[in-house]
Amino acid sequence: MTEKAQIGVTGLAVMGRNLARNFARHGHTVAVHNRSYGRTKELVEEFGHEGTFLPAESAEDFVASLERPRRVVIMVKAGKPTDAVIEEFAPLLEPGDMIIDAGNAHFADTRRREASLKERGLHFVGTGVSGGEEGALHGPSIMPGGSKESYESLGPLLEDIAAKVDGEPCCVHVGPDGAGHFVKMVHNGIEYADMQLIAEAYDLLRQAGGHSPAEIADVFSSWNEGRLGSYLIEITAEVLKQVDAGTGKPFVDIVVDQAEQKGTGRWTVQSALDLGVPVSGIAEAVFARALSGGADVRRAAAGKLPGPAAQTGAGGADLRADVEQALFASKIVAYAQGFQQIQAASAEYGWEIDPGAMAKIWRDGCIIRAKFLDYIKQAYDKDANLQTLLVDDYFLDAVSGAQEAWRRVVALAAQQGIPAPGFASALAYYDGLRAQRLPAALIQGQRDFFGAHTYQRIDKDGSFHTMWGAERNEVGA
Ligand code: 6PG
Repeated sequence: MTEKAQIGVTGLAVMGRNLARNFARHGHTVAVHNRSYGRTKELVEEFGHEGTFLPAESAEDFVASLERPRRVVIMVKAGKPTDAVIEEFAPLLEPGDMIIDAGNAHFADTRRREASLKERGLHFVGTGVSGGEEGALHGPSIMPGGSKESYESLGPLLEDIAAKVDGEPCCVHVGPDGAGHFVKMVHNGIEYADMQLIAEAYDLLRQAGGHSPAEIADVFSSWNEGRLGSYLIEITAEVLKQVDAGTGKPFVDIVVDQAEQKGTGRWTVQSALDLGVPVSGIAEAVFARALSGGADVRRAAAGKLPGPAAQTGAGGADLRADVEQALFASKIVAYAQGFQQIQAASAEYGWEIDPGAMAKIWRDGCIIRAKFLDYIKQAYDKDANLQTLLVDDYFLDAVSGAQEAWRRVVALAAQQGIPAPGFASALAYYDGLRAQRLPAALIQGQRDFFGAHTYQRIDKDGSFHTMWGAERNEVGA
């Protein structure tokens, strides 16, 4: 009997190739396929010694080499290419087989694909995979959606190749249909916020603190030993340490200051707008990238718009400690917002996502892996319906302790003319949540004035309207 593969991977660019190698290294027989056979051959020639690969030239041979139920991982570009590959493979599969989309697909596409393949008797599993190329090879964080039934068959393989924390895999069945890709999208939104906040911390230390990139690298290295310990803080130190070989200048000074994006952060904000969840930290991060990339607008304005020149030493002797506090508090806000979005989507789509389990599988393997995810997990273990992470004991303590420094940093940035939209909006969100009364009451009055949109009163039930154009008496609506 010819050997069959437990899993197949089609689309062998670096992410697909590394996932295939990871499965093979864990003792699974892996069928491999690519649009051009050259890549498939290359993979087997270079890495064939790592495990058992079954290279296939055609889609038909690839499908025939898989044991049933067939598990076909597709690792191609999101959007049309994904639909094209699904259409290529679905007709070759049989009921009970599954197609696993491990790319960064939009969760709405995943919902659509799952529903349409279900009608054809196939499982479609949209799965988030985080950790970049290295993660895919050595252990990513994996966020699979799709049916429970598909997870029973696929889960053990994914758990095998996932990162582990204390022996526990960073992989869990997130929920049905698009839940996995949704959670991955929010992961990326949080990633954007985290990166923006780190960039603002660097900018303040550089401009108001007068420190060199190399000195700031040391600051980040030391922060990495404390509560901010995380992959993004660690790599920030590495990037800041880097010196450009050609010019001898700090690497960060020779890179064009326009941040690009592939779109997952933007999707997170678009979805948050639909769900009505204020993910202001993520939105500021997406907009900050857009502002940086708006070269023409920046050229038209830079040098024309007046403002103070940042003064070295303006932050005083406590600047480092203050920025650490502001960074930690703002980061907590960004995560609190992201988790709130996951909970809102879970309720909206009936996904029943366990937020604590998401924190658990983000503790290693993924880009936002961080020490403090343990505390997020614990917070949701204590109370699965926690309204906001900010009121959990650990985080409440952290933000209360950070408050004065956080306000000093935001004020300093404003006074010195250093843009810090992430820090400032996080603080504004915090103050918004803690307010007993918000000026939203005035907005309700304005809406009622110009559009008879009605308002509710604090002292009795019902909806009311004031006859603004007449005697200004109030009527029940
Ligand atoms: C991951 C990352 C990854 C993402 C890149 C680039 O979890 O491994 O989130 O999926 O594509 O970080 O994203 P941008 O190009 O949008 O910055």
